[in-house]
Parts: sequence; structure tokens; C-alpha cells
Amino acid sequence: MNKNKTLLSENYFDQNIYEKEKTNIFYRNWCYVGHTSQIENAGDYLTTDIADESLIIIRTDSGELKGFYNVCRHRAHPLLSDNGNVRSITCPYHAWNYSIDGKLKHAKNADKMKDFKKSDYCLSSFQVIDICNFIFVNLDDSAEHLSEQVEGFEEDLKEKVPFLDRLRALPVDKKRPSTVKANWKIVVDNYLECYHCTKAHPAFANLIDMKHYQTDVYSFWSRQYAPITNPDSNAYKFDKKSPVQDMCFWFIWPNTALGYVPGVEALFFSSIRPDDIGNTTRFGHWLVTDDTVLPDGFIDYMNRVLFTEDISICEAVQKGMKSKSYRNGPFMIDPDHSGISETAVQSFHALFRKTLSMDSESG
Ligand code: FES
Ligand SMILES: [Fe+2]
Repeated sequence: MNKNKTLLSENYFDQNIYEKEKTNIFYRNWCYVGHTSQIENAGDYLTTDIADESLIIIRTDSGELKGFYNVCRHRAHPLLSDNGNVRSITCPYHAWNYSIDGKLKHAKNADKMKDFKKSDYCLSSFQVIDICNFIFVNLDDSAEHLSEQVEGFEEDLKEKVPFLDRLRALPVDKKRPSTVKANWKIVVDNYLECYHCTKAHPAFANLIDMKHYQTDVYSFWSRQYAPITNPDSNAYKFDKKSPVQDMCFWFIWPNTALGYVPGVEALFFSSIRPDDIGNTTRFGHWLVTDDTVLPDGFIDYMNRVLFTEDISICEAVQKGMKSKSYRNGPFMIDPDHSGISETAVQSFHALFRKTLSMDSESG
């Protein structure tokens, strides 16, 4: 393995790698699933899919957040879909009924069966936490708390986002392009560097001052930051008096991407999830305050230009990865320490190799 080179190309299309990723990455790490403003009242729930597992996150009567696999303990039918509010959970197949804290309450004929104990069939649960009202789940019960893993992240987020406590989730924008015909790691790689911005996103490169772009890498998270931005760019115009004049994108291993852009008092939170080895959904949404004003043309620029430019790059790279001429490439690290560097991608690949124990990988 050469730590100055990217992952070997087969990591982006080999089905065996995907199976290992599910076990070692997606079922053992913290994944973002939503904001507490989406499930404020007892019985409010949302459902989400993480690498082939369907999950329920629900607010119980005591106000706690709980997570249950969306699988009936009888014959495995899914229990809930989308989001909403329930007083109890009834399986659509044979009508087993569970309380919102996961206990089996009713199963037809169970009282006639001598050895049947309802307590043996509670819904299977997993860890749910919130950090600054952002909900994360982890399917590994022994995993350490996310706050311990991403030391310094919460402080950084609070410092850079003074409007954090006033945020509420906007409904998911169905017009936002969110599916990508590429492996999930290509989408993460692309998110983690702005080496491509000048060529691939000319309007974005005009919105921020690329000369002052900074990339900082910590053990399980990283940050890209632009302190100087242009309110009169070709991307969208924003108010020079807006309280947000800079730009910041964070990344939390393995697949959480969040950030804000100039002139908009809002935060974007997203989770880059594999649908299979070659397809990815960038599940995500905007969070705004009651005072947020979206600049004219802003959503249109994000959806139709910026996201779309990245999607077509990622889909093209997925094709290139399969060429027999290509195995991997060099990380472009600026020796002058500018932020236009692939240091965060290098750190992501190092974590990936370590997690999948690829110490013997050649190339
Ligand atoms: S599968 Fe749910 S009640 Fe039978
Ligand atoms: Fe990009």
C-alpha cells in the first residue's frame, strides 16, 4: 500500500468490497438521519435506509429518541414507512402490535400458546444520539459516542454557526438531484476537495476566494473553509450585510457532509449512502431559521448547477475507474499548504484502508 496514492480502482466496483463495507463501515459507524425538529412529539417517527437496513427512529412517551430495525419479529415484514406519528406500531402483515418503545403488546392467539413470552419479541434496537439536535444512529451497540470520536467538531460547529440553536428542518426538496450512478466513495472523494473547483465549478470559484481556501484534517473529521467570498458572483447574489459572509463544509467519517454557503443563514446536512456498489443516494436537507431569507436564484443554482456539475463528474469517474488502464492515482498535496489540496481525500482513504484492513494492498 502506498499512502501517497488513492485507493485501487476495484474498491469502487467490486461487490466483495461492498459486502465488507456494510459490515465494517456502515453497520459500525455513526450515520446522520435527521434533525430533532422533525420528530418533536411522542409518537413522531421517521424511517431511513442505511446500506440495505431499514430503520425507524421514534420519539417515545418519555421524550427519548429510540431506534428500531424496521422489521417485524414475527415473519420480518417492514413495520412503518416514510414519516408520521403513531400511538403504537401495528405490523401490516398479521397485525402484531408494538408500543412506541418497542415492546410487543399484542399477537393474535399468543395467549393460547403455553411457552410464548411477549417479552422475547421486543423490537430490535440500536444506538441513537443527538449532537446539537442532529440525530445520528449506530448499529453497533459497543461503538463509542460520536462526540468522543470527533473531538473538537462540536465546538467548531457552534463557533462557526451562531444560529445553530434556531435551526429547523425544511421538508426534503424533491427537486434536488440526490441520486448518483457512482460508488459512494467517489461522491465522498469529490466532496472532500476543491482542487476541481476552478475547472468544474466556474461560478462557485467566482463565489469564493480560492486563494484563501483552507482545508483542515483531524482524526475522524475534516473542514474546508473559505473566509472571503464575493456577494456579486455569477453563482447567486447575496446581501453584503448578511451575517454569513464565509463558507464552510465539514465531513465526518464515514459519510456525513454538512455546511453553509455565503449569504444564507442555513445549514445543509447530508448523508452519502450506497444503494449498491455502483449507486449512491445523497440523502439530505436544508435547515433554516425563522429569519432565513434565501437569495434569488440560490436554490436553483445549488440544484441545477452545483450539485448537477458534481453528479456528472462522479458518474464519469465511475466509468473511468473500470478501465483496465487505470489502477489508482497520486494525491495532489500542495507543499505550500494551501487549501487547494487533496489532504482530506488522503485522510478518508487512510481511514478506509485501516477499517477494511488493507495493509497489504499493493499499488
Ligand atoms: S410479519 Fe408482522 S405480524 Fe406477521
Ligand atoms: Fe464539486
